[in-house]
Amino acid sequence: MYNSAERRNFYGRVHGKTLRASQKTYLDEDLARLSLPGVTLDSNPVRAPLDLARFHGKPLWLEIGFGGGEHLVHMAATYPQVEIIGCEPFVNGIAMLLGKIRQAKVANLSLHPGDVRDLFDVLPDGCLSKVFLNYPDPWPKARHHRRRFVTQDYLRPLARCMAPGAELRVATDIPDYVRQTLEEVPQAGFDFVQQTGPGEAWEDWLSTRYEQKALREGRQPHYLTFQRRAG
Ligand SMILES: C[S@@+](CC[C@H](N)C(=O)[O-])C[C@H]1O[C@@H](n2cnc3c(N)ncnc32)[C@H](O)[C@@H]1O
Repeated sequence: MYNSAERRNFYGRVHGKTLRASQKTYLDEDLARLSLPGVTLDSNPVRAPLDLARFHGKPLWLEIGFGGGEHLVHMAATYPQVEIIGCEPFVNGIAMLLGKIRQAKVANLSLHPGDVRDLFDVLPDGCLSKVFLNYPDPWPKARHHRRRFVTQDYLRPLARCMAPGAELRVATDIPDYVRQTLEEVPQAGFDFVQQTGPGEAWEDWLSTRYEQKALREGRQPHYLTFQRRAG
């Protein structure tokens, strides 16, 4: 059981297709070493803030819901001077990421194989200087919109963990998700910086599996950037 969100509702998938033997090996051999200690409820029932000394004062970034991990590994390889935490409860995605980490030999990645809200509980104030939210689950039905990441229940704990001036990047292919993002993110303590469209992603962007699927199915990407306000 990799998902630690015992006391929260998590509506996404945690398990998918049967894992290949190599993926089981990655999980057995690499996952514990790469997982941040003290995030799960079991390992830290009093929810003490994480000691980030292990990162030696380097800038700390976070990718929420990394899927297959291609963007996360790309960022880690592009910015070796930065430490990046990846968070994802879907075991098949975690196994894919571990394979990619072995291949790319990046050493500046840590994981939380579970719900990002568990991480928000224990990250110290203002410790993150960049956060990626690439193609969060769209939850298209109106009655499910409150499950979206861009709601105050998720955004306020995230904002607490981000330093003043830190960048939040959101990519989505759903126009109504753009609407909700532009409405909700500023309310949580962020300034809107820019919105761009197809072919105008961030300079260091690497297209994700989900984005490729959206493009194949005729949906257009939207890239939104925000900055954490001071205070
Ligand atoms: C639509 S997929 C996109 C995956 C990847 N970012 C991409 O662009 O290919 C959304 C991902 O967010 C993850 N996710 C959903 N809720 C989450 C949560 N509370 N904490 C961490 N990840 C979450 C899901 O498991 C899923 O892999």
